[in-house]
Amino acid sequence: MIMLDGKRVSAERLQIIKNRLHDVEYKPHLVTVLVGSDPGSQIYVKMKHTTCEEVGIRSTRIDLPESTTTSSLLSVINDLNQDPQVNGILVQLPLPQHIETSVILSSVEPKKDIDGFNPLNQGLLISGNPGFIPCTPKGIMTLLKTYNINVSGLDAVVIGRSTDVGRPMSALLLLSDATVTICHSKTRNIEQKLMNADLIVSAVGKADFLKGSMIKEGTVVIDVGITRIEGKVHGDVEFDSVSKKAGALTPVPGGVGPMTILSLIENTLLASGLQSCIPV
Ligand SMILES: NC(=O)c1ccc[n+]([C@@H]2O[C@H](COP(=O)([O-])OP(=O)(O)OC[C@H]3O[C@@H](n4cnc5c(N)ncnc54)[C@H](OP(=O)(O)O)[C@@H]3O)[C@@H](O)[C@H]2O)c1
Repeated sequence: MIMLDGKRVSAERLQIIKNRLHDVEYKPHLVTVLVGSDPGSQIYVKMKHTTCEEVGIRSTRIDLPESTTTSSLLSVINDLNQDPQVNGILVQLPLPQHIETSVILSSVEPKKDIDGFNPLNQGLLISGNPGFIPCTPKGIMTLLKTYNINVSGLDAVVIGRSTDVGRPMSALLLLSDATVTICHSKTRNIEQKLMNADLIVSAVGKADFLKGSMIKEGTVVIDVGITRIEGKVHGDVEFDSVSKKAGALTPVPGGVGPMTILSLIENTLLASGLQSCIPV
């Protein structure tokens, strides 16, 4: 079984980016916006800024109180949209329940939408002309390419239909000529679909959801899930049983997570290049 080492691949590509940015006078600038004090979100935002610093991307963190309203958050984003010094805007999800997430995500200027969550960028992806691609699915495609896993013609099953992972993942696999089945909580006979799959991307968020008995020999398994139980991070995949049958597998941690952060950095570079016409 091949262990798809996202930590290593990400570190190698980040080093290349760091070397390239070293010689570039204008450093791309990412701004994150975090509302409230969700502990998980705090960790993710911190990791993103640390990586920016490591590779030489400027980053600014805007932390807003839980009581922030949709209209006051819109005003913050409008200011960032108009600021020529800002190349990429990331609104950390989930937002507090009282904020209209779809309104906020639609308000991010598409050219600065490095998360790819603006409906324009989502539509471009579905129509086969991607603009900014959501970071997690983009990172998974980079990982598969790095390991020379050609998905063309494969039967792929994506478990999960969220707008940040499941849907864009399915669109990317389709763009690479896989035959894609999307499963969700109402899917019937999921076992049958999984057993036929050459490639499974699991984005459910339930620890040990996918077991070795549910897959066929040689399946490529991508574990997106992150569930914290008593301070320990678990994926969707029951590692012991799946690793005995899979042809390739991403570990958790160290698989998809680092590739997601890599994609964020790549998208920020892309945004900066598009806005400034500086070849970064
Ligand atoms: N590693 C990373 O970088 C990274 C990035 C993003 C997310 N994640 C993790 O990935 C997981 C998924 O994230 P998300 O944002 O996509 O979550 P989400 O919005 O909660 O979506 C979960 C999906 O799983 C489906 N589902 C739930 N129970 C199921 C079942 N028994 N059988 C089949 N499908 C089922 C849901 O179906 P319905 O639509 O029918 O409810 C939904 O589509 C989470 O653990 C998250 O923390 C990791």
